[in-house]
Amino acid sequence: ARMDVEILRASEMGFCPGVRRAIEMAEKAAAESGQLQSLGALVHNRWVVSHLAEKGIQVSQSLAEISAPTVVISSHGVGPQTIEAMRTRGLRIVDTTCTFVRKAQVAAEKLTEAGFMVVVYGDAAHPEIQGVLGWARGGGVATLDAATVGRLPRKVGLLSQTTQSPAGFAGFAGKLLALGLERTAEFRVFNTICSATQKRQAAALDVARQVDLMIVVGGHDSANTRRLAEVCASTGVETHHIETADELAPRWFARKAKVGLTAGASTADATIEDVALGIESLCRPTGTACKK
Ligand code: F3S
Repeated sequence: ARMDVEILRASEMGFCPGVRRAIEMAEKAAAESGQLQSLGALVHNRWVVSHLAEKGIQVSQSLAEISAPTVVISSHGVGPQTIEAMRTRGLRIVDTTCTFVRKAQVAAEKLTEAGFMVVVYGDAAHPEIQGVLGWARGGGVATLDAATVGRLPRKVGLLSQTTQSPAGFAGFAGKLLALGLERTAEFRVFNTICSATQKRQAAALDVARQVDLMIVVGGHDSANTRRLAEVCASTGVETHHIETADELAPRWFARKAKVGLTAGASTADATIEDVALGIESLCRPTGTACKK
């Protein structure tokens, strides 16, 4: 017997305002000046990156690789040392750093100037965090595990990677406070989680609680997409993080009545629609359309 499958879409998903702005700025600059290179991928999504390449925006992995006269700083931002190096080379800079990331950078800089040790709750290898640590002028640490921070000084300032979950940040802050209370006289906490991330996570959670299967669409190296998948899985629902529709496996849909769909902030609408079509075709084994 065929089962009707209902697809529930998260009320907020896909491109966030920061990613939209970065793409628009880069496209506009490419239209004006021809060739551009971005330092690192402009957004963590292969489909978007290849779409931008067609418009003349190439990705380079290091500053040394940049040969175009114009360089694009991605929405993840960079440290002041990198901006300095770009200026020294005489490059024209198109800075698409997201305003939420910029807030975290400014907080890191101000805390450092005021003598605080900067602790960032986040993935130390992520470009956003590398940039934020740059603004802490080498005086910061980034980690997801409070126990690895080491000996805390008297003044500690805490920030979060923009794409972390509020619950994770709260847990980290609590642990850090407990570890530091003996020595640390002053703690300052800046909530630098971006509101687009919070809205997407809340919407995904809402859907995850109502379905039998959750599909999360976004680049495998996209931090915010991974976090969305974690948030969904935390409800106990079967969750799969895929980048494109070809990764959908028919067996996931066996005996499922409700499938939830969400997507990370760097996922294009076209990719989301592709996946929605893929899900529909997989839950239509007998050629009858599934209920939407
Ligand atoms: Fe900015 Fe948040 Fe998007 S930090 S790039 S609006 S996920």
